[in-house]
Amino acid sequence: MKKIILIVFVVVSFSAIAQNVNDPKMNTFISNLMKKMTVDEKIGQLNLLTPGGGIVTGAVVSSDVEKKIKEGNVGGLFGVIGVDKIKVAQDFAVNQSRLKIPLIFGSDIIHGYKTIFPIPLALSCSWDMKIIEQSARIAAVEATADGLCWNFSPMVDIARDARWGRIAEGAGEDPYLGSQVAVAMVKGYQGNDLTKDNTMMACVKHFALYGAAEAGRDYNTTDMSRVKMYNEYLPPYKAAIDAGVGSVMSSFNEIDGIPATGNKWLLSDLLRKQWGFKGFVVSDYTSVNEMTAHGMGDLQTVSALALRAGLDMDMVGEGFLTTTKKSLQEKKVTVQEIDQACRRILEAKYKLGLFDNPYRYIDINKPAKEILTAQTRKEAREIAAHSFVLLKNYNQMLPLKKSGTIALIGPLANDQSNMLGTWAVSGDSKLSVPVMEGIKNVAGANVNVLYAKGANISDDSLLAKKVNVFGTRIDIDKRTPDEMLNEALALANKSDVVVAVVGEASEMSGEAASRTDITIPESQKKLIKALAKTGKPLVLVLMSGRPLAIPEENQLAASILQVWHAGTEAGNAIADVLFGNYNPSGKLSVSFPVNVGQVPIYYSQKNTGRPSSDDSPKFQSNYLDAPNAPLFPFGYGLSYTSFSYGDISLNNTSMKMNENITASVTVTNTGKYDGEEVVQLYIRDLAGSITRPVKELKGFQKIKLKAGESKKVNFKIGVNDLKFYNSDLKFVAESGEFKLFIGGNSRDVKEKDFKLQ
Ligand code: NOJ
Repeated sequence: MKKIILIVFVVVSFSAIAQNVNDPKMNTFISNLMKKMTVDEKIGQLNLLTPGGGIVTGAVVSSDVEKKIKEGNVGGLFGVIGVDKIKVAQDFAVNQSRLKIPLIFGSDIIHGYKTIFPIPLALSCSWDMKIIEQSARIAAVEATADGLCWNFSPMVDIARDARWGRIAEGAGEDPYLGSQVAVAMVKGYQGNDLTKDNTMMACVKHFALYGAAEAGRDYNTTDMSRVKMYNEYLPPYKAAIDAGVGSVMSSFNEIDGIPATGNKWLLSDLLRKQWGFKGFVVSDYTSVNEMTAHGMGDLQTVSALALRAGLDMDMVGEGFLTTTKKSLQEKKVTVQEIDQACRRILEAKYKLGLFDNPYRYIDINKPAKEILTAQTRKEAREIAAHSFVLLKNYNQMLPLKKSGTIALIGPLANDQSNMLGTWAVSGDSKLSVPVMEGIKNVAGANVNVLYAKGANISDDSLLAKKVNVFGTRIDIDKRTPDEMLNEALALANKSDVVVAVVGEASEMSGEAASRTDITIPESQKKLIKALAKTGKPLVLVLMSGRPLAIPEENQLAASILQVWHAGTEAGNAIADVLFGNYNPSGKLSVSFPVNVGQVPIYYSQKNTGRPSSDDSPKFQSNYLDAPNAPLFPFGYGLSYTSFSYGDISLNNTSMKMNENITASVTVTNTGKYDGEEVVQLYIRDLAGSITRPVKELKGFQKIKLKAGESKKVNFKIGVNDLKFYNSDLKFVAESGEFKLFIGGNSRDVKEKDFKLQ
């Protein structure tokens, strides 16, 4: 938007408020409106543009946006940041287009709007649905205060391959946990009334299977059986739909040889017919056009394919806008197909209350009051602390004492630009708290902090160039690596403990940030080795957007706190945990491999015909050069206290299809600190009509226990927990024997058997 022209506010004569899909009032309103629309205006509604204000994730940015809006050729915009700019664009639509249809305004608010929360992968490690929902709620309040009403989140793609950079944006490897997170986020964004001026429409993405890209390379092909799809990859999308998500984004990848954006089976048969989805589907960024490169035909062909498949809105590529009328004339699409897509988009606008008041989300005075307040920062700090996972704590090195000398070392120890993490489009890293500042805030006057950078995040200038596309994230120092190292070692030698803040720059994960090497970059590995050699106790604070392979560092460090990219309040939250103001309670939502060769790795694997314990002989399913087991399993995470699990008791050892079993276990806090534990329930179906995973998460409870306290935790298991999609894709439970496991992670569990009759 080049020129900003303020136009006198004219109240449009739309008057509809209700929001239910089956609302006859809505249907009548939209039918009447559509009667007035030309084919061109209907096609215009299917067009989503970006004037290029946000993060651009494709080759093009829309041009002539203002003119297109006035001509009725735009249904919505994204990447327009700021309520004043949004107002200008809405003015164009409701004052200067023939039918005055309001625009919908979207954005990627992936883990917070201005108050940035930890990256989604980190949030999922809290296993705390209340705080995840709350982070989404705050994001919605801030984003709507700034004029937005549609959010391209949650991203619920199951990801089991740490090479894939976008593993950072989802909830990890597990369909059960992923589904719970999907629901919490949809609820947080949408609330229970979409017409409210502080709720926004969510958009679940990327439908579907985007996280299963071959070799972890972004945008790459996926190929999997329907059985795997239904049982392992589709549940979180389905959960979001069942929770009432208003929109769905199609993914870049192909499924069964047809890109998702043009895949009728996916967008119509599965999504609408089987799952009953009533909202609208938007493409990903130019993913309609990209079907040409996939090898599906020219722009007109792929646009028609997408519309017929059930895609409603075309993001940025303008294939719908420029070719649909021709396709109609040539009978390649029908008027009903155009009408259907247009209706779904108008319904979304209606449900958001935009026809009632196109300026519902536009109040110039709101941002100052509701965005990034002391309260939202406080909540961001608490939420961040809940997302950290304590991977190792030898000799109870942590929490740190609030006295003595700490050598605070590392390229991420006094850094602001990497704190927010990937996909923080609207965040301002200059408002984030570096670790050094957090430590000074929390440690008090008796702690002497000595700081040195010690190493660059990476010495590789080519990598730095690729990573620094949105600003400097990898800042290669003018000093030589040796000069930096020597400075750090001198400080380490003078200190009581070394805290090294190391890991990935924020843009080393996220979109188009796949890595084939998932270790800590060499420059920092060298630093860690040298620090360990000093003999001082070494605490690693590890930042990353993915599980890193850290077997060597696990040997060298006394303690490792995985803090991901923790958002605006990163430094304070990290200090809160380091000094024991908060006792860590996070558990991994994704396995940490020993090395990259193990990926894809996940706990709910199949047994194979030759299951292997890691010391097993030849001709078993294992590696010559690495164990099968991950370094840290799914569900794993330590606390400053310790928990013990009693034996499982079952109220019955067999159940009928219409009955339940209750499994109980007593968990005791056997350590010195009050703490929280995520008690996890896994089930294995021992014999089935198709092979079944060795364990599947079926429940969890996060409990608080005071030092010395015990609690009995009960899980009720019903037939639905035992169901799976069989080879006919029927969701069934089969009678037979089951194993039930309860524990504090997916590896260390107690077990019991039961039968389903
Ligand atoms: C491309 C990404 O894949 C998607 O997640 C995002 O919502 C769009 N760009 C819009 O920014």
